[in-house]
Amino acid sequence: MAFKVGLLGLGTVGTGTAQILLNPQGRHPLLQEIEIHRVGVRSLDKSREVKLPPELITTDLESIVSDPAVDIVVEVMGGLEPARSLILKAIAHGKHIVTANKAAIARYGAEIFTAAEEAGVYVLLEAAVGGGIPVIQPLKQSLGANRIKSITGIVNGTTNYILTRMQTEGGEFGDILADAQKLGYAEADPTADVDGLDAADKIAILASLAFAGRIKLPEVYCEGIRQVSAADIAYAQKLGFTIKLLAVAQREDKALTADNPESETLQVRVHPTMVPQTHPLASINGVYNAILVEGEPIGQVMFFGPGAGSGPTASAVISDILNLAAVLKTGQETHRLHPLLSCIHQHYCAIAPISELVTRFYARFLTNDRPGVIGSLGTCFGKHKVSLESIVQIGFRDNLAEIVVVTHDVREGNFRQALDEIRTLEAVDSIPSILRVL
Ligand SMILES: NC(=O)c1ccc[n+]([C@@H]2O[C@H](COP(=O)([O-])OP(=O)(O)OC[C@H]3O[C@@H](n4cnc5c(N)ncnc54)[C@H](OP(=O)(O)O)[C@@H]3O)[C@@H](O)[C@H]2O)c1
Repeated sequence: MAFKVGLLGLGTVGTGTAQILLNPQGRHPLLQEIEIHRVGVRSLDKSREVKLPPELITTDLESIVSDPAVDIVVEVMGGLEPARSLILKAIAHGKHIVTANKAAIARYGAEIFTAAEEAGVYVLLEAAVGGGIPVIQPLKQSLGANRIKSITGIVNGTTNYILTRMQTEGGEFGDILADAQKLGYAEADPTADVDGLDAADKIAILASLAFAGRIKLPEVYCEGIRQVSAADIAYAQKLGFTIKLLAVAQREDKALTADNPESETLQVRVHPTMVPQTHPLASINGVYNAILVEGEPIGQVMFFGPGAGSGPTASAVISDILNLAAVLKTGQETHRLHPLLSCIHQHYCAIAPISELVTRFYARFLTNDRPGVIGSLGTCFGKHKVSLESIVQIGFRDNLAEIVVVTHDVREGNFRQALDEIRTLEAVDSIPSILRVL
């Protein structure tokens, strides 16, 4: 008996998925039992890179999600609507779901997983984070013994590509973004990538799995890379750091009480970060992604690979399809979901505000070149309990003295208060950059 897939979308990921399903030889034998039943697209006139019988392709996506013959709906159309409604409709018709749509899951995950739980179907999303990198299943299964302490990832290929080129070529953000757009590495509207929103969607999903609770997306702190300048990249390099857009989810360093494990808070955030050049994430370059998971007792484990692309993302989609085919093949009853495949947590994780974060900072100041400026900066920081690792005048820019400060671990709220006071000092012209240090 063949398992029937209804594919919503035949773009980059849909095409890669169809190509694997049409060419199963030499892959997992179960793939030979999976068949593309119908494919939904927006336009029937487009030429396609994959050869499918024309009668399979339709613009009526509603008819796919309600087709009684379809076992698994694979949503690779993207966007919020109609993707959300189609997923919910498919669930209501008892279909299992595979999706690559981090944006929809990060926003409507609660609604979608509640509906799936009630209907006794699975929603699998390996391709939603890290493209081809298997990280969702390891978090659900292979790392199940661990108490996860943190997840730190480079999960957006576009920004990593831009930052890597800024570092190797010394160019400014705007110029390299424009070139990346020309070369097809950045979208015409790059907002979701360069403002960190895509990474925020992904870390919300990873945090939800790692810490077994739902995440409210608006509580994820998010800062993109538009403000990162060639000067900061160069100073970072001199100080032994590389600037990366990191997505981080970590438990606050508090003892967990066994009677109330939900009382803990998490930090979930996306921002450009100075990463020590010796850190494993510092060497992840170009469009590659990597996700470093720290757990007890395993220690650190890093997942690395292609974070996007037709073939790699389809590889992740197919792994979910295979898991579902295996469940269907072994005849597991619906309404009794396999606990290592499903996502059944209902409570929301408490997320601490960014002001509570304890981290090191790098800040660059432009000041008038007069005696005592470094002293007054030091005094302001001291007043707000910000202890400094180093404070140096590194040169001149536009007739202003350029001073770089690196702090020890400080509470972000205290650091921001010190900066507010520093901004009022007459000698201070501006603070062109503030970066957290890993
Ligand atoms: N591209 C990647 O490398 C990658 C990596 C990881 C995750 N993802 C995720 O995978 C999903 C798909 O991405 P993609 O890059 O494959 O997108 P894409 O190339 O733009 O393809 C989207 C497909 O969906 C169809 N579609 C979109 N809206 C539709 C609508 N309203 N009605 C009917 N058909 C519609 C399009 O039809 P037409 O072909 O007729 O226009 C197209 O075939 C997204 O959620 C994305 O975030 C992508």
